[in-house]
Amino acid sequence: MSKEVTLETLTNLAKRRGFVFQASEIYNGLAGFWDYGPYGVELVNNLKQQWWRAVVFENREIFGVDGAIIQNPRLWKASGHIAGFSDPMVEDLKNGKRYRADHLAGTDSTDLNVLSELLKDKKSPDGNQLSEPRVFNMMMKTWIGPVENDSSVAYLRPETAGSIFTNFENVRETTRSKLPFGIAQIGKAFRNEISPRDFIFRVRELEQMEMQYFIHPNDQQKQYERWREFAWKFLTERLGISEENMQWHEHEDQERAFYAAAAHDIYFRFPHGFKELWGTHNRTNYDLTCHMQESGKDLTYFDEATRERFTPNVIESSVGVGRMMMAVLTNAYTEEEVNGETRVVLKIAPVIAPVKVAILPLSKKPELMTLSDKVYTNLVRSTGYNIEYDETQSIGKRYRRQDEIGTPYCVTVDFESLNDGCVTVRERDTMQQTRVKINDLESHLKIR
Ligand code: GAP
Repeated sequence: MSKEVTLETLTNLAKRRGFVFQASEIYNGLAGFWDYGPYGVELVNNLKQQWWRAVVFENREIFGVDGAIIQNPRLWKASGHIAGFSDPMVEDLKNGKRYRADHLAGTDSTDLNVLSELLKDKKSPDGNQLSEPRVFNMMMKTWIGPVENDSSVAYLRPETAGSIFTNFENVRETTRSKLPFGIAQIGKAFRNEISPRDFIFRVRELEQMEMQYFIHPNDQQKQYERWREFAWKFLTERLGISEENMQWHEHEDQERAFYAAAAHDIYFRFPHGFKELWGTHNRTNYDLTCHMQESGKDLTYFDEATRERFTPNVIESSVGVGRMMMAVLTNAYTEEEVNGETRVVLKIAPVIAPVKVAILPLSKKPELMTLSDKVYTNLVRSTGYNIEYDETQSIGKRYRRQDEIGTPYCVTVDFESLNDGCVTVRERDTMQQTRVKINDLESHLKIR
């Protein structure tokens, strides 16, 4: 069950326990950029692995790609991002700070007239006069080659979807697929967000897990529902996120991205409120049609059974890795009273826990260290899990440290172990301790 964890508590825990650090922290950081530490990278890798398994491995008609971050800028012209990927912005007329106009106005509307009206008597957070709202393009720019001019401009991708659409025909042909089929990708995307904030919730360098499902236009409703349900089940059943912390949010007309005919987000109860976690969008045949027009290449599909030629429609499933991690941490954060003390424990589903098992020798005596080292090495090799070995501090402190990073099992090796070939396994959530034969240790762990 999620506790009322604040952003500050979550950010502090993430830093103290090595999940997330500010990027370039020793230079006072850089707004909108974050580094993942030793436990963060494990958690993120596990989330990506679970998503890939559920999407690519468990659906025989879905295939993975890994496209370049920088593509021909014509791709983004065709997709409409150069013209339309923007947010409304207002500027503090005294100090030049920029803000999302819709955030300041406290509305979901991005209509400039509506915003202008709502903001007409408002001051900036620093108490200064604000500019009129205007649109601001979020594409991150760079230049390719030695000359920086208009013809060498390129963009860091704002979504991974772009190279999925341009590879539609390559993937269809090489996998000999018929509709419906899907293409999945995990990768970095970049957005020059006006006001990055709320820890890793809104960042400028993000990672997305996206899947585009190519279908016959008649199949839209069914597939839209299917991928909405997929997202919900993935979060609840695989990641163990509580349904109480989730709700559906259907996009109003003025809220939808320029490419979508329908959009449903799963909102999660983040520390700063219910906010978007995972989007399912009906992108119709918008993208393939745009790319056909810009490239002059034929991206239509011929259905041999019905002898029909058409441009496939696309249902998109899109979620940010960082937001998923933040949701997992928020959902897992628990404070409990144990013997008059507060125990902080991350109740993360074992399958995504950064560390699965901690091996903790009760003393630094050589014979115990030798046995503990053997238990550690054998278990790492036989399971392939990320396992920790910790011989420092008191056992109580070591348990507390493992609880705070969400390790499902602590294994203590004591002097009895030398005689009876058993170790004590402590389960994270119940704190129950069980004596287990070293040879049975692997089968005792419930990780999947
Ligand atoms: N291809 C569709 C697309 O990119 P989106 O709603 O803009 O749609 C999809 O983004 C997901 O990516 C969001 O639901 C969110 O999880 C994540 N995301 C988007 N912008 C983000 C940002 N600035 N920081 C962190 N995550 C972000």
